[in-house]
Amino acid sequence: MTFYRNVVWFCKGLKEYTKSGYEAAAKRFNPADLDVDCQGKSYMITGANSGIGKQAALEIAKRGGVIHMVCRNPKYAQEAQKELKEASGNDQIFVHLLDMSDTKAVHKFATEFKEPLNVLINNAGCMINERTLTDGGLEKNFATNTLGTHVLTKELVPKLQKGSRVIIVSSGGMLTQALSLDDLNFEKMRPFDGTMAYAQNKRQQVVMTEQYAQQFPDVFFASMHPGWADTPAVQSSMPDFHAKMKNKLRTVEQGADTIVWLALAQKPLELESGLFYQDRVPVATHLPLAWSKSSPVECKKLMEILDEMATKHS
Ligand SMILES: NC(=O)c1ccc[n+]([C@@H]2O[C@H](COP(=O)([O-])OP(=O)(O)OC[C@H]3O[C@@H](n4cnc5c(N)ncnc54)[C@H](OP(=O)(O)O)[C@@H]3O)[C@@H](O)[C@H]2O)c1
Repeated sequence: MTFYRNVVWFCKGLKEYTKSGYEAAAKRFNPADLDVDCQGKSYMITGANSGIGKQAALEIAKRGGVIHMVCRNPKYAQEAQKELKEASGNDQIFVHLLDMSDTKAVHKFATEFKEPLNVLINNAGCMINERTLTDGGLEKNFATNTLGTHVLTKELVPKLQKGSRVIIVSSGGMLTQALSLDDLNFEKMRPFDGTMAYAQNKRQQVVMTEQYAQQFPDVFFASMHPGWADTPAVQSSMPDFHAKMKNKLRTVEQGADTIVWLALAQKPLELESGLFYQDRVPVATHLPLAWSKSSPVECKKLMEILDEMATKHS
């Protein structure tokens, strides 16, 4: 089944996730969707110092939004903040230093954050190919992509302004994985496979988004796939893929487009909360005949486990 899913997914990716896939999809975009004035609204973006997170920050800053950049590396964060201020002419861009894999720190940051917030963009993500543990004993991909996202979202949602949105930057790679609950910390995975761990985390994010939509009906939730975009993460975590595909990869602008659209446009608010988007439309969360669906009980169980882990590690 893994081989089947990988082959079907890669063929789909060549057609849809590439630059040409974006260009084909963009023919049906309405450019007026992004004619939005963001003044008076606040946007938190994790991992906003690089790649598509930084590009999304730029687009929102250009439209006057207050930006809260959540980044782990002070030097990268300050350089990006300066660049974003210069490129957008917007001075309301703030840096918050936070390592998303440090669950305690995420909890502390989120409980202490008191500024008004309209949109949370959970963009920070990683694919670490060696099994690496945090000080708290959590596998780092899981701690960053899943538990960090969960703790930040759960803590901030009750504080969001009316009509707020939460976007989770997942990945189409999740289509290769069925939700698996028995080894969230990848203790039994032999040999450890960073690509598979990442795809499992990204599947978890899609399920989490669906579950948040049910738990918090006053907030709009969406997960999304940016396509295959040429960013530092792809270069460093998937060097072979990057070398083979580099002429076909999307630009950061193309990769960030659906994040910006979900954060700003009116159109997504007319659709159901909790869906998974690609190129400004909701898309299927499973490949055909892939046997990757989970029962509602399993999806709820994921949330219970994450809540327990959040309490234990906060
Ligand atoms: N590019 C693609 O083709 C693609 C495809 C599917 C999904 N995605 C998703 O898109 C999102 C953005 O990735 P990108 O491609 O734009 O890569 P990127 O340029 O490397 O950006 C990743 C960002 O996440 C930050 N980050 C990673 N671990 C963190 C941690 N523990 N705490 C705080 N920040 C952390 C990075 O910080 P540092 O700069 O300090 O490392 C960086 O700012 C990720 O969630 C990724 O999974 C990307």
